[in-house]
Amino acid sequence: MAVYSLLSPSALNRIASGLQALESQSQLRQLETVEGIDLTSNDYLCLARDRRLADAVVRALARGEAVGSTGSRLLSGNAHAWEELEAEFAEFVGSESALFFTSGYAANMGLLGALLRREDVVFSDSANHASIIDGIRLSRAQKVVFPHLDLNFLDDALRRATSGEKFVVVESLFSMEGDRAPVADLAGIAGRHGAALIVDEAHSTGVCGPLGRGALAEAGLAAAPLASVHTCGKALASAGAFVACPETLKRWLVNCARPFVFTTALPPYLAAQIHAALEIVKRSGDRRARLQELSGGLRSRLKAKGWDTGNSSSQIVPVMLGDNVRALAVADHLRRAGFAVRAIRPPSVPPGTARLRLSLNAGLCLQDMDRLVTELDTARDRATGMGG
Ligand SMILES: Cc1ncc(COP(=O)(O)O)c(C=O)c1O
Repeated sequence: MAVYSLLSPSALNRIASGLQALESQSQLRQLETVEGIDLTSNDYLCLARDRRLADAVVRALARGEAVGSTGSRLLSGNAHAWEELEAEFAEFVGSESALFFTSGYAANMGLLGALLRREDVVFSDSANHASIIDGIRLSRAQKVVFPHLDLNFLDDALRRATSGEKFVVVESLFSMEGDRAPVADLAGIAGRHGAALIVDEAHSTGVCGPLGRGALAEAGLAAAPLASVHTCGKALASAGAFVACPETLKRWLVNCARPFVFTTALPPYLAAQIHAALEIVKRSGDRRARLQELSGGLRSRLKAKGWDTGNSSSQIVPVMLGDNVRALAVADHLRRAGFAVRAIRPPSVPPGTARLRLSLNAGLCLQDMDRLVTELDTARDRATGMGG
């Protein structure tokens, strides 16, 4: 029997027309590898190829750590290495405890899905990451989406909500905008209305704050939120994510967070890699300063040439282009000029706000930035009807 006959023809037709629809909207994605100067990865501190991380893994394996975890953390997948790492991470960010999940996506799904109940009201920033949106959906809590960082709107909406427990969820450094949430103001507003604050620090961990402890630590607010989420796949160049939270919440998540309970743990040698990454991150003040210098330099060069970089104030610098076709054309030009960039289109960003997401790392130099801006200008000159 031919394999395709196992799928019903109507399901296949539906998929084929779905793909066509994506293509006609210039929203069809395909897998690519990174070629050229990397402006697309989240390896902000250039640790993914750092020998010290690889050596930590080799040493862990030589000590006899297994290459497979063999089960979920509640079955055979727990290890001293994970428990020690969770304690180390909690101390690093200044929380009472921490729980490690297999990814940032799983951490947000697990945290929000287990914490929020149907009768609760969650106030979610409109630019929040898909994993936050999906976690809220999983919980079935009532949702109020507030316009991106509109604190007046949030304040008002919180005041008007009278039933259920209230939660506010934001990213501390927004992944597609590159702007930063005023976490102290948000903590104040949430506190005034008796709402709990949850902060996703995915793009701040390792990059912001003293020793790279994140934006909350930078604002002196380590203990203010009910929970914060810290991915290890970005500046820590590893995989997985921590939810930093009070011990009581950790115990609840161990019992009720479905993406924690019902998945195979990551292999324990990874704990050694993350431990090594944390040690390096603490001593990477020079790389953090370099990132700031590079992103500040790139933003001012872009603005001087009339490009719109939104409200970026970080290592993530969007170049706003509006429509999908234009974003694809500019990305294509830059790729041919030797830059690895991606056109970010809906549903990753709202319709009509397609952009390049320039994601900088400490290994770049200002000459790269100069050439990038020159190539962007060339793309604009070449494409008919393309304004800044
Ligand atoms: C803000 C934010 N939260 C969570 C995630 C998910 O993290 P992970 O890639 O570890 O699943 C991402 C990843 O892009 C993110 O940008």
